[in-house]
Parts: sequence; C-alpha cells; structure tokens
Amino acid sequence: MARRKIIAGNWKMNMTPSEAVKLVEELKPLVNNPDVDVVYCVPAIDIVPVVEAVKGTNVQVGAENFYIEDKGAYTGEISAPMLIDAGVKYVIIGHSERRDYFKEDDAFLNKKVKKAIASGLTPILCCGESLEQRELGVTMDWIRLQIKSDLADVAADDVKNLVIAYEPIWAIGTGKTATSDQAEEVCAGIRALIAEMYDEATAEAVRIQYGGSMNAGNAKELLAKPNIDGGLIGGASLKAEFGQVVNA
Ligand code: PGA
Repeated sequence: MARRKIIAGNWKMNMTPSEAVKLVEELKPLVNNPDVDVVYCVPAIDIVPVVEAVKGTNVQVGAENFYIEDKGAYTGEISAPMLIDAGVKYVIIGHSERRDYFKEDDAFLNKKVKKAIASGLTPILCCGESLEQRELGVTMDWIRLQIKSDLADVAADDVKNLVIAYEPIWAIGTGKTATSDQAEEVCAGIRALIAEMYDEATAEAVRIQYGGSMNAGNAKELLAKPNIDGGLIGGASLKAEFGQVVNA
C-alpha cells in the first residue's frame, strides 16, 4: 500500500495568536490538496485559535511540545490530555532545537514518545546529525542510536502509525538543504533500521519526512524519492510558499 504523503509546518516560536489565524486564512486555498496530510505544528498559545480556524479544512493541528505527566505541579507545562482535548492530533518530539537548547535526551524522548502514543497523539519523531558528525562519517551510526533509544519498548503497531522526520542539523534554518540523494540515503537507512528492529510491514508503513530548508524550489525533487514521504518545514511554512510545498 502506498504511503500517504504528510507535509507538516513547524512554526517554532513564531506567530502571535492573531497572526496565526491570519496565516491559516491566507493558506486555506493554497493547501487544499486531498491527496496529502497537511499539519500545522504551532506554538501552544496558538493551538486553540488555530484548531478553530482550520475547522472544515483538510488541515490538522500539531503541538511543538508537551510534558510527560497528565497533570500536577509542573509550572509552565502542557499535558497530552490538554492537547487532545484542544483537538491536537500530532506532536513534534526530539527536534534538534529541543535536544540542544532544552537538553532533552533520548531517555526523556523515549518517555515522550510512549506518552504521546498512549494518549492518542501521533509523534513526529525527529532525528539528525550535526555537520561534524556527517564529516566524520558517523551519520547513520548517530541516527541509529537516536531511533533505537527513542523507540525503546514501542510496539510495532504503534511504529506503523508514527512519523519520523530526518532533519540534518546543518540544514535547519540555514538555507543549506541536503541533496535529494543525501536525504534519500538516510531516509532509506531509517526504513532499513525499522525493518531490522521490527519487520518489513512496519518499515513499509512508517512515514519518513525530510526537514531542513525544504522549500518551493527543492520540495518536488525531495518528495519524488521513494523513501521520503513528506516534509517538516520551518521557515517556508510561515508564508504562502507552504502551499507550493504541499502541492509539490
Ligand atoms: P527549516 O526548519 O525548514 O526552517 O530549515 C525545519 C525544522 O526545523 O523543522
């Protein structure tokens, strides 16, 4: 069975609630493609107005973060049940910015993956190497370590519904995209790893995105690759250009 493409915007720390609603309105006619899953991963404060604004469209809403407990004394945090109740379907886990700035390690990310799944959220699990690691030739070793740790004790049936985003750190926000061959090589490697950890059916089902300076100019070539099932898009998700990526 062919995997359905999934194009997700990662808005990061951009868009006030009123700007968010305006952007959703602007993008509405541009992202209306029934053959693609379209997701906006938005800042927590934008979730409620964006869920409202996308009603009746093909767009689903994702969160950029959450905490692993359901409720309690965790000042400043947001739980999975809160996201579910607000209408959120996806959540980004393991983005390099959270690994780096907020010191989220693989043991914690594994808890987040399990909590998200148990709560009914679909993780968009990010992995990717630094420029130094790529130059050292340890890209796949590093990614294998990340995926194996982040998916420890996660069942095959849950992995089938997962989205994995391959995001080379050196390509994020830099305008420096991985070539389609570089991206395909790693995405194929991730799929082979899933086959090794689980089985062929799980590897065939899991959707793998590329992320890192993906835009209207390079999306078509990247998305044509057999193991690239979509994109996680930062900068280009905040403008009309996102519509061109969705339709690429
Ligand atoms: P970028 O970000 O498209 O701006 O490079 C991608 C991401 O960090 O998910």
